Amino acid sequence: MRILFIGDIFGRPGRNIVKDRLPTLVKDHSIDLIIANGENSAAGFGITPQLAEELFELGIDVLTSGNHIWDKREIIDFFQMADGNPHSPSRRLLRPANYAPDLPGYGIYQGRKGEIAYAVINLQGRVFMASNDDPFRKTDLLLKDIQSKVILVDFHAEATSEKISLGWYLDGKVTAVVGTHTHVPTADERVLPNGTAYITDVGMTGPFDGVIGVKKELVVGKFLNNMPVRFEAASGDVRLCAVVIDCDERTGRARSIERVMVGERGLDLRA
Ligand SMILES: [Fe+2]
Ligand SMILES: [Fe+2]
Repeated sequence: MRILFIGDIFGRPGRNIVKDRLPTLVKDHSIDLIIANGENSAAGFGITPQLAEELFELGIDVLTSGNHIWDKREIIDFFQMADGNPHSPSRRLLRPANYAPDLPGYGIYQGRKGEIAYAVINLQGRVFMASNDDPFRKTDLLLKDIQSKVILVDFHAEATSEKISLGWYLDGKVTAVVGTHTHVPTADERVLPNGTAYITDVGMTGPFDGVIGVKKELVVGKFLNNMPVRFEAASGDVRLCAVVIDCDERTGRARSIERVMVGERGLDLRA
């Protein structure tokens, strides 16, 4: 099975480049399953039900998120619309699994792609972030109830050490641990010794001429004077950051992980 995981989709520029480039990426990389982090889809802050539906219509199977999930309050109603249907769009949008257990939404999705069963787990880190439940032990608990071999973990976290630690902790237990949240892609993709594909951060899908998606003058100004400022999405140098994971669906072991970074006209921007 070949999995495409797209890093944090940021605002309209991010959504547009996904719409433009996804069909080619799916064809060129023979993709079977598409997962994307959508926490910044709505002008950088959160995701609305309509935007989630639009992203699903492009062919994305599961959307993950992170600390921005509650920015658009209507997403709470969307989560509650799942109404017992385990595969409805609102069930295929995840929030981190290690949030307080009684919050709306789910942190795990289990589905099938053709004959192949798979699971997606969304977690959030605790270093330089809000104090949520332990993502390591939470994963142990979740894995007890998963039957599928193919399991992808989106670890939405700030600290490289915490992300690498979870990669090692889950090596051999899941197909892939991919990092999100920093919006900066790392060049450390590899398959760990027991068959888990790993990357510290997939990077952002959005405008790279700002500061992690926001207009640069606003963020630079914030660092200079520390006055309150309303952040607005940047717009130029739009890139799509993703990884392609190839795995043996019978064992769940990853064979390879490859970084992808394409520009608006499909240019390969990895170099
Ligand atoms: Fe993000
Ligand atoms: Fe985030």
